[in-house]
Amino acid sequence: MILPNMKEAKIRTNKKVNISKYDVDSKYKNIGNNKKYFIKTYGCQMNVHDSENIKALLEEMKFQEVYNMEDADLILLNTCAIRENAHNKVFGFLGRVKHLKEIRPDIISGICGCMAQEESVVNEIKDKYKWVDIVFGTHNIHNLPSILNDSLMKRQQEIEVYSIEGEIVENIPVKRDSKYKAWVNIMYGCDKFCTYCIVPYTRGRERSRAKEDIIAEVKELVEKGYKEITLLGQNVNAYGKDINNGEYTFGDLLRDIDKTGIERVRFTSPHPRDMDENAINAMATCKSVMPHLHFPVQSGNDRVLKIMNRKYTREEYLYKIKRLNEEIPGISITTDIIVGFPNETEEQFQNTLKLVENAKFEGAFTFIYSPREGTPAAKMKDDVTEEEKHDRLNRLIEKTNEGYLRGHERFVGEIVEVLVDSESKNGDGMMCGYSKHLKLTHFKSNDKSLIGKIVKVKVTEAKTWFMIGELVED
Ligand code: SAH
Ligand code: SF4
Ligand code: F3S
Repeated sequence: MILPNMKEAKIRTNKKVNISKYDVDSKYKNIGNNKKYFIKTYGCQMNVHDSENIKALLEEMKFQEVYNMEDADLILLNTCAIRENAHNKVFGFLGRVKHLKEIRPDIISGICGCMAQEESVVNEIKDKYKWVDIVFGTHNIHNLPSILNDSLMKRQQEIEVYSIEGEIVENIPVKRDSKYKAWVNIMYGCDKFCTYCIVPYTRGRERSRAKEDIIAEVKELVEKGYKEITLLGQNVNAYGKDINNGEYTFGDLLRDIDKTGIERVRFTSPHPRDMDENAINAMATCKSVMPHLHFPVQSGNDRVLKIMNRKYTREEYLYKIKRLNEEIPGISITTDIIVGFPNETEEQFQNTLKLVENAKFEGAFTFIYSPREGTPAAKMKDDVTEEEKHDRLNRLIEKTNEGYLRGHERFVGEIVEVLVDSESKNGDGMMCGYSKHLKLTHFKSNDKSLIGKIVKVKVTEAKTWFMIGELVED
């Protein structure tokens, strides 16, 4: 049994990151023969992509995926620890898994992802959820075959969570959810230690993949016909800083990725502090890099930004927005904002509202601050009432919704290029997909062969959450 430890998870050294290559051990190859698995994924794109790796590892062991939990022999929850409600969802769902296990005790159940990196969570699972068979963390996904094997052999709870800075394991197989859009990790971990955030503890230190490995992955995707990639990292634009003294940074990587011939490149999330002129210039000059940027600001007040340890001021942030607009005319910018950080005053919150106007955000993920055990902010006294926090969130959402609508209205009458995803959910003979500026666009058609293709759509109507348009023949 290896339990997580928050103190160890915090340590950062300058040791060289070990890069290894995953190789399946043939002795595990038939563990899943005639067995089915169900995986439920919570949290960010990083977790979604980790689940794509987990699925492929399981399928190498001959497990088959099912989408109904009741049909599964193995149930895995890939969890997120970012806010309290993410926790509650997982513990709520565990109740359903327990119920199934009471009927079919041979089911194997497991928890992985960011919650599995948390000391208090794993202690609780060890003491009160003894029926959960396996727990593994974000650093040892590639060990899933041996962990599963141990659990089956010993028939006891297997907990294997490392609180280390982290390594890089290449070659982990992947079962991608889409045939035309793909996630590509470019770096792992986070060294920013924003005072409210659990991620640096759950994901380890910032470590960049070698550019050769990234480019090789993108080239393979191009060959397979993929149209769009999204580069992933907790701070994508800190790319390279840990491996080559800043000689080859995020902007350089974007230029090399552009040369592979991939049609669309997106990335998430960049940190405002690391957004340098080289990256802005690469965004402006690389045809494949889409004119949309998710650019988390968190707060519009300097004092709050400082206590959050964001390491930029409101003015510095707005200057980068100005530069982005100058170099990439028409760019769409979205953000993340936290309200009700400990002791945030009404005036400080007003600064955030004002910044939303100044930055002309066209969308935002908005959150009420949620204390995370083990982070510095969780120890801060807080005089903002729950009622006030909710009131601020509502006022903020009202403001950010105006931005969504404005972002759609500016395209009415224009022709946009849409990468088609699916039929619209309301089943009204419409299809939908995303434009270059990441605007959800619906258009009349029932031609399913368009899925995965880029089509031209003339926008006729703007709503808050999407645009409506008509297909334009080439
Ligand atoms: N690495 C990314 C964001 C990762 S978490 C970045 O720094 O941009 C996604 C978002 O969750 C954050 O941008 C923040 O707005 C929010 N978040 C993180 N910790 C939180 C907490 N303790 N309470 C509320 N929101 C939080
Ligand atoms: Fe969390 Fe800050 Fe790192 Fe983003 S940059 S993952 S908010 S610590
Ligand atoms: Fe959640 Fe972990 Fe992502 S905490 S947001 S799944 S990095």
